[in-house]
Amino acid sequence: VLLVRRRMRSSGKWAMAEAILRELEEKCATPTAKLRRVADAMTVEMHAGLAIEGGSKLKMLISYVDNLPTGFGALECWLRVMVKKFDVLSDYAFCSRFRKIGFFILNEKGLFYALDLGGTNFRVMRVQLGGKDNVIKQEFDEVSIPPQLMTSSCNELFDFIAEALAKFVASEGDDFHLPPGRQRELGFTFSFPVRQLSLASGTLINWTKGFLIEDAIGQDVVGELTKAMERVGLDMRVTALVNDTVGTLAGGRYSNPDVVAAVILGTGTNAAYVERAHAIPKWQGLLPKSGEMVINMEWGNFRSSHLPLTVYDYTLDAESLNPGDQIFEKLISGMYLGEIVRIVLCTMAEKASFFGDTIPPKLSIPFILRTPDMSAMHHDTSPDLKVVGSKLKDILEVPNSCLTMRKIVVAICDIVATRGARLSAAGIVGILTKLERDAPKEGEKQQRSVIALDGGLFEHYTKFRECMKATVDELLGEVSDSVVIEHSNDGSGIGAALLAASHSQYLEVEEE
Ligand code: GLC
Repeated sequence: VLLVRRRMRSSGKWAMAEAILRELEEKCATPTAKLRRVADAMTVEMHAGLAIEGGSKLKMLISYVDNLPTGFGALECWLRVMVKKFDVLSDYAFCSRFRKIGFFILNEKGLFYALDLGGTNFRVMRVQLGGKDNVIKQEFDEVSIPPQLMTSSCNELFDFIAEALAKFVASEGDDFHLPPGRQRELGFTFSFPVRQLSLASGTLINWTKGFLIEDAIGQDVVGELTKAMERVGLDMRVTALVNDTVGTLAGGRYSNPDVVAAVILGTGTNAAYVERAHAIPKWQGLLPKSGEMVINMEWGNFRSSHLPLTVYDYTLDAESLNPGDQIFEKLISGMYLGEIVRIVLCTMAEKASFFGDTIPPKLSIPFILRTPDMSAMHHDTSPDLKVVGSKLKDILEVPNSCLTMRKIVVAICDIVATRGARLSAAGIVGILTKLERDAPKEGEKQQRSVIALDGGLFEHYTKFRECMKATVDELLGEVSDSVVIEHSNDGSGIGAALLAASHSQYLEVEEE
């Protein structure tokens, strides 16, 4: 009798858990038609954000990066093909003849630094540029940011960064050369919403992700970094301030002229793309010569009634550092996916006694279930879901999970990751729609559009990446052949260094 009772009790428990799961699945559903509405809403908000400052939740920030390669990039590509095909010039001769008409910096020689702040780690990097032969050598270092600094004071954060940078500069080897009499120059990738005042200055609008440092809001982040560098005795000048999406776009475009947009899927999520300058009504300055301007969309703050939000998302938002903000980001990015799964499990523990009569105490710790752990569970292919079992044991201290429980956990991961991946695909299609590259044009050859992707979520969460790519194809239908999603490995760091170089105070236009 006891056994039967226990079985009945436990089947009741699973039935309840199953019901919660089914409801989650229903509320997170992203059928094609819904995604199309999300993509269209993204396009509408893009127009609104470009029209006037504050016209939309999408900030559509002007980056001051307006000299990405355009037709010349394509010309160079074509020339390279010809060179390869007919072997008409040596590669060196090719570079020296054509580089200076095409890409944005390549006459520049010298040593440039890049600093990348935006996630849980920050990176420092140095690049030796050899003029026409471009990147000769690069080195980087990664430092994890002590969590308490993310909510400390502006000076504490920037002092920590400047010290790490000074240490990195001190380790500069003989194979890096700073031309005599020159000051070291830095491209600063700062991955938060910034109102740029020029390419090398900008004020922080608000923090996102895990950062909240009140006294930095409204400050010029380049000014703050410069002061911190002075405090630690580091003589360096910031010549470019860029968002990671903008750095990725610059880095991606540098190696592929068909790159039209860059997307980050990492701790946070965001996109930047190349806009025609005349399509930016809020831009008051002179029209750039290129006729183009890179826009940092800050798409993480996108919000629409078409987004499939659940009670779990409202809980996550209410308990976050920035309630009401970054709703798209909270559905998609690496900082939040594992946390959504944790919140769902909390409800299952409370309402369905999913983990037994007591709720595992660890389960109530916010962010204890990280997205890499979620990904490991989601990719578990062992018949008894061994990885899920050991994650539940190690992280939540649930010692004896049965197969049914493990299967339900995997199903939650699948629902949450699939929703995020499909929504990010809809965002990409929204950009392509804005650029009128989402549908075939009558009588015209379809242009190739490359989207440069970077970020840990994209790189390491295989099911997420594959679902995102498949959904872009699903939404684009017949034009999907001309849209390529390309991983741009550390495009952001290289891109920032290249932008620093192209805006060097020592830049001279080389005469033919
Ligand atoms: C957050 C930031 C944004 C950044 C993105 C990816 O959304 O606000 O600036 O690009 O994270 O790092």
